Amino acid sequence: MDTRTAWFAEARFGMFIHWGLYALPARHEWVKHNECIADEAYDRYFDRFDPDLYDPREWARAAKAAGMKYAVLTAKHHEGFCLWDSAFTDYKAPATHGAAAGRDLLREFVDAFRAEGLRVGFYYSLLDWHHPDFTIDRLHPLRNLPRGEIDRLNAGRDMKRYAKYMRDQVTELLTNYGRIDIMWFDFSYPGPGKPGELPGKGRDDWESEKLVELVRSLQPHVLVDNRLDLPGGGDFLTPEQWQYEFPERLADGSVALWEGCQTFSGSWGYHRDEASWKSGKQCVEMLVHHVSRGGNLIMNVGPTARGRFDSRAKERLAAFAEWMDLHSRSIYGCTAAPAGFVEGTGTRYTWNPKTKRLYVHVFDWPLVHLALPGLGRRAKYAQLLGDGSEIVIWNSSESSSPRDKHCPPDTLMMALPVRRPDVAVPVVEVFLD
Ligand code: GLC
Repeated sequence: MDTRTAWFAEARFGMFIHWGLYALPARHEWVKHNECIADEAYDRYFDRFDPDLYDPREWARAAKAAGMKYAVLTAKHHEGFCLWDSAFTDYKAPATHGAAAGRDLLREFVDAFRAEGLRVGFYYSLLDWHHPDFTIDRLHPLRNLPRGEIDRLNAGRDMKRYAKYMRDQVTELLTNYGRIDIMWFDFSYPGPGKPGELPGKGRDDWESEKLVELVRSLQPHVLVDNRLDLPGGGDFLTPEQWQYEFPERLADGSVALWEGCQTFSGSWGYHRDEASWKSGKQCVEMLVHHVSRGGNLIMNVGPTARGRFDSRAKERLAAFAEWMDLHSRSIYGCTAAPAGFVEGTGTRYTWNPKTKRLYVHVFDWPLVHLALPGLGRRAKYAQLLGDGSEIVIWNSSESSSPRDKHCPPDTLMMALPVRRPDVAVPVVEVFLD
């Protein structure tokens, strides 16, 4: 782990924030694509963008309380609308007529989150369904126009000019807002697509090498994700809406740097009527699982058009806050357990390589006994992390009980209280020699 990425692996937990004009239709951040909405029709959201309740200090306090150590905000999403005062477009928040008029929403975000001690990053969409030079492709809202019309429109568009526009905007983002920790570019879809489909876009369209060179030249410490279609892509992997079952280990046995990006519900942007919201317990289990496989979790919130986190998001952030208040020691600075450790049934292990402490997250509370293969000789003491109460442990090989005779040699046995602790995920902290 190099010094550039050490903080990221230590932090383990961040907040993603997807916020833009799509909060007004409130039915997914891809609404312009999903409903093939032309610019003129979509402009009704630009004309009505009025986040009168926007106060990123509230957002930052909620993120900090939840135990998040960094936050990444969509400076520009696929719709092309910019939250900051960019000199290269008028399609930006300061140019609207409501509460955002004249305000650089990105600067307020950066100031608020830094004030709470969190690191900050920008999500920047490579796609831009508003920019006049962005050619109509297989994901564009105008993709279903007659092919002749598409060819006519594309003839007047120049992706080299668009790639330069992106470099100009990234220069603004990494010059005017102080130290930035992450640039989260999204996303590449290279190749011709299915027969009859319009092509996608990849590194040659984005001029990805130049983009990364620019980032490195402006702020060399910035972490860049892996979605620029570059071989060996980026500083960290970005599995989305799924999580590794086994840690992705490098040749030296260490775990590759990865960050799972996940949503509370089925949408990144605010979606009023979407109902697939994960429970607070599921969210905590996701965080634990990500770290148990050596990764980070960046959990997304989609603020409303008025600039607030809604009650559903607040409820789940509170669930993180309650659990992290007692259990953050099993997350920060932790990673996958060393190769060869076999998780006990219904558990997830995290491991602090500095303190050599193993954290056993008990997803399925057993009837008293928990067996952890192979740790019988190494474990010296154990306690419930939540209240620091001792958990009695022994080595199955040193037990005369018929129950333990069936265990493999040197299984670590522990006797858990019959009554499951009243926390989202109980954790046993095991001190190994
Ligand atoms: C997917 C979504 C996009 C979102 C991104 C976050 O690409 O389509 O809207 O911003 O995931 O990882």
